[in-house]
Amino acid sequence: MSRIMLVSLFVATLVASAYGSSYYPLITNEIHLIRPKSGSGGTPVNGLSCLSWRFGVETNNIINWKTVPLSCEDYIGHYMLGSQYRKDSKTINKEAFFHASSLNISKNGNDAWVFDIDETTLSNLPYYAENGFGAVPYNATKFNEWVFTGNAPALPESLKLYNKLVNLGVKIVFITGRTEDQRDVTEANLKAVGYNTWDRLVLKKKVEEDGYRIIGNSGDQWSDLLGTNIGLRTFKLPDPMYYIVAKVKGLDFPVISNQIHLLRPQSGSGGGHVKGVSCLSWRYGVETNSIINWKTIPVACEDYVGHYMLGDQYRKDSKAINDEAFLYVKTLNLSKNAANDVVWVFDIDETTLSNLPYYAQHGFGVERFNATSFNEWVFTGKALALPESLKLYKKLVRLKVKIVFLTGRTEDQRTVTETNLRSVGYNSWDKLLLKGKNFVGKPAAEYKSAQRKILEKEGYKIIGNMGDQWSDLLGTNIGLRTFKLPDPMYYIS
Ligand SMILES: *[C@@H]1O[C@H](CO)[C@@H](O)[C@H](O)[C@H]1NC(C)=O
Ligand SMILES: *[C@@H]1O[C@H](CO)[C@@H](O)[C@H](O)[C@H]1NC(C)=O
Ligand SMILES: *[C@@H]1O[C@H](CO)[C@@H](O)[C@H](O)[C@H]1NC(C)=O
Ligand SMILES: *[C@@H]1O[C@H](CO)[C@@H](O)[C@H](O)[C@H]1NC(C)=O
Repeated sequence: MSRIMLVSLFVATLVASAYGSSYYPLITNEIHLIRPKSGSGGTPVNGLSCLSWRFGVETNNIINWKTVPLSCEDYIGHYMLGSQYRKDSKTINKEAFFHASSLNISKNGNDAWVFDIDETTLSNLPYYAENGFGAVPYNATKFNEWVFTGNAPALPESLKLYNKLVNLGVKIVFITGRTEDQRDVTEANLKAVGYNTWDRLVLKKKVEEDGYRIIGNSGDQWSDLLGTNIGLRTFKLPDPMYYIVAKVKGLDFPVISNQIHLLRPQSGSGGGHVKGVSCLSWRYGVETNSIINWKTIPVACEDYVGHYMLGDQYRKDSKAINDEAFLYVKTLNLSKNAANDVVWVFDIDETTLSNLPYYAQHGFGVERFNATSFNEWVFTGKALALPESLKLYKKLVRLKVKIVFLTGRTEDQRTVTETNLRSVGYNSWDKLLLKGKNFVGKPAAEYKSAQRKILEKEGYKIIGNMGDQWSDLLGTNIGLRTFKLPDPMYYIS
């Protein structure tokens, strides 16, 4: 504890003095490119963008990893101990509360909120800090000793949400990978830091079988949020420190690297570029499907999103996801002759083609979507390839993987879309599925699920599914693995 407190004081001092000397530039309205304000400001780590790595991890693109890349140790340490982790947690918890307060909860109902415990309601940061964020491989004995101290602090932003939910009359259910023998100490720990009441504290199982309606589900791991009975909405809290496959087994997570030297967060904000809203947090919320149904980006984030999209961070993030996708494909050992039924599903806009020239002229998402002017742009056939996706596409074609484009573009745009695809290098495909009349007005997830279902009925095996929207990737028949490309400019439900 003492070390983390010292370290926090040190940060506070640094940040305060930096503010005092107006070190951080204010954002102006112009969106002309200088360099990305997304945080890397270039390449702090040779050959690897730790921001991209974190993006990949937090969006469930990079999975089954055992340790943080060694070269990202500093970055993760700075992120976790700096203000950006707290801001991101705040953004997600605020969004969760907006959702809960929109539901007119009745005080005596059976509406439940499911919270994970570690890194969601309780924080083990003191443990990780004391252990240099994992200077040695994960040691279950040692971690359990820590758990049995009952000294885990609350994640303050989650505690706030918890208190508000309790006031609304929502039932609290904790579902954790901690084991039964840790029940007493976990209860004591929860109470000691302010979680005074709950309905259930359980090992993972289907709470809905007990008659609850799960209105929300908060966790730091995607394994908390995917699967069945996930609730009305999910909220993904940040955790770039470890990956858990199966929560029930739990705690066999690995660890992390050497000591961290704390200066200030290298996550990019270094403080508050934009008063009242952290655009990094907003983007984090959007990309993790925690902030949904938005119409435009916050006005204050126009600059940030513009710089991100035009700067190299967007390209690096796209590369990280496409690289990960190809690494995955290689593990499948596709034999060229056996691959007849194997397909890869690509979305089009902001996945294989980029409409950045259009959005650059229209405020990067700060303007409300104008179907008329966007369709005029589509009909020019001048969309660019997203270069990183084009590379993946070419590798897949070489492996004889069948290509299926599945897009929300409409049938009347077929010819121009085909021409546009070919003109930028997508020369062949098996199917180009556009939105027909019977799907007009239907949500994208429903339309795309139905199309993928047909593909599977026809005998295709979807080995991968790539899109920039969660509505490309959720629903049914999603394929063996999904890949979420960045898109902080617009939301399609
Ligand atoms: C909640 O109540 C408000 C005001 O009575 C109403 O406008 C809104 O539609 C209700 N929302 C839901 C989800 O029932
Ligand atoms: C794991 O932690 C325990 C308790 O701190 C210690 O006795 C043991 O030597 C550690 N094991 C390894 C492999 O470091
Ligand atoms: C692919 O081949 C490697 C090496 O031969 C093997 O270890 C791996 O299990 C195979 N993967 C699949 C999915 O068959
Ligand atoms: C939408 O775009 C069209 C075509 O560019 C333009 O005429 C129209 O005024 C725009 N609508 C709005 C609400 O801006």
